[in-house]
This record gives sequence, structure tokens and C-alpha cells, in this order.
Amino acid sequence: MDGKVSPADFSGLSETLLIPLWAKAVEYRRADALLRDEEAARMLDLIDYDFSRFESAKMSQIGCCGRAAVIDGEVRRFLAIHHDAVVVQLGAGLDARFERVGRPPVAAWYDLDLPEVMAVRRRLLPESGNRYLEGSLFDEEWAREAAAHGKPVLVVVEGVLMYFGEPQVRAFFEMLWRVLPQAVLVADLMSGFGVKKAAKHDALRNLDEASRPEFKWGVPDPEDAAKLLPGLETAAVHNLYAACGHRYPLWLRLLYKTAWGRRNLDMKIVRLEKQAV
Ligand SMILES: C[S@@+](CC[C@H](N)C(=O)[O-])C[C@H]1O[C@@H](n2cnc3c(N)ncnc32)[C@H](O)[C@@H]1O
Repeated sequence: MDGKVSPADFSGLSETLLIPLWAKAVEYRRADALLRDEEAARMLDLIDYDFSRFESAKMSQIGCCGRAAVIDGEVRRFLAIHHDAVVVQLGAGLDARFERVGRPPVAAWYDLDLPEVMAVRRRLLPESGNRYLEGSLFDEEWAREAAAHGKPVLVVVEGVLMYFGEPQVRAFFEMLWRVLPQAVLVADLMSGFGVKKAAKHDALRNLDEASRPEFKWGVPDPEDAAKLLPGLETAAVHNLYAACGHRYPLWLRLLYKTAWGRRNLDMKIVRLEKQAV
């Protein structure tokens, strides 16, 4: 590859993908890594971007890796039950989950993001058995393509929904389960408190103020996400703290021992399924 890839065309929201990428690249060098992502470490060196701006974002570094590790576990669990599944990652950014879980021989694995992101992804991390789709998670095309396989479908949306308002999240849920009534969705949910404190977020606050995206959606209780659509059920809830809290500083671990801390500070990762209504 000639020179480094520039993410200059990224919108403020798309620039956020560089945070989990950086987090996983940093994690790769740790002996006690929460997950090992060789591709993230490789890609970081190929991007023309000042990643040093995230150096102080210790909580995000840990949290992004804990979240990705929990979701990797959810994907492995689904694939252990459904070997011939279809997996769709929406807002995939430069996440190399397909590679991390060992390029599973599924019916199909799609990674979707906005065109300017996929252009960079195609250069840095070419398809290797998975398929790339340019588009928006709100479009119906990807869902129809996934449905056409006639197989169990797992949809993963990580680090994305909090940037959209509740009406948009509801519209996404309605479209998803209208086109794919049997789909299982794995998503991370921010707490309502986390949304209010976005300006203080240790990684986001280092993006340019003029283009920095805001958090718009969070739920005080993870069950609130299922309430957006009749028949939706929360099949599993993971507390991010359980995955990576042992790496948090002492003051935060003490705060998480309180009911307030667990409710207001912890991110949840949920598995949502729809029952027939
Ligand atoms: C914080 S990043 C998360 C990336 C990836 N899921 C990860 O965890 O590394 C948010 C991603 O959502 C993508 N995104 C924003 N709006 C989108 C939309 N309407 N449809 C699909 N992806 C979108 C951005 O381009 C970006 O890649």
C-alpha cells in the first residue's frame, strides 16, 4: 500500500470508529488482554491520524475491548447453535470480528457501514470470506439480502445506537423485525446518565468540537430497549463491568459496588429477540 490511508472524508460520527480500533490495537500489546485483535494493531499503523489524542481515554480503551469481547462471545454462542447462520454487523467500522472469531464457515457474514467508511475498510481489511455492504443500517436492502438466505440471522450493532434518537432506534427495530421476524439482535446500550455526560466522555471529548457527535439515546433500564417494539424480549443482559471492571481504577470499582453506580454508569450488552404477537 502506498502511504497511509486518510480518514479525512469521515463524518464526525464515522470518526468515532477510530476509538474502538485504537482501543483494540493498544490491548493487543497487553499480556492480560481482554481480547486479541491482530488486525486492529496492524491497521492502526496504516492510518494517517493522530491517535495520541486518545492516550488519556483509559476507560474507553478498557470498555471498548470489554464490550467487543462480550459481543464476540455472543457471536460464538449463536454460531455454536446455528452453524449455517447469517451474521450482519451494522456500523462495522474497522472492527475485525469476522477475523477474531476465526472466519467461521457460515452461510454468509456481512459487514455494513457508510460508503466512505467501507472505502477505507476495503483498502485496510479486504473481504476474506465475509462480504461488505455500503449503506445505512436504516436501509431495508441489507435486511432483505440477509433474509434471502432463509437461515437464522444474527444482527450485531456495536457502538452505534447511542448516536441516534429514540424514534430512529424504534424505526430501525420496526424495519429489522418486519423484514427479519426471527432475527436475533445483539447491541450495546448506554445508560441515560452516560448520555447526559457525553461532553465529559474521555475519548469523544478529544474529537474536534465542531464535528463531534453527541450521544442521543440511552436507557435507565436495559428492559426499556425491548419496550420499543411489541413482542420484543430481552433474552440476555451482560454488564460491561463484569467483563472488564477488574481493570477499572479503584475509585470506580468502589462506585460500581453501589446500586447507583451499576444502574447509571455501566453499559449493558443485550440480546433481543421477537416473539410472535
Ligand atoms: C463508534 S463506531 C463503531 C464501529 C464498530 N462497530 C466498532 O465497534 O468498532 C460507529 C460506527 O457507526 C457507523 N455509522 C454511523 N451512521 C451509520 C448508519 N446510518 N448506518 C450504518 N453505520 C453507521 C460509523 O460510520 C461508525 O463506523
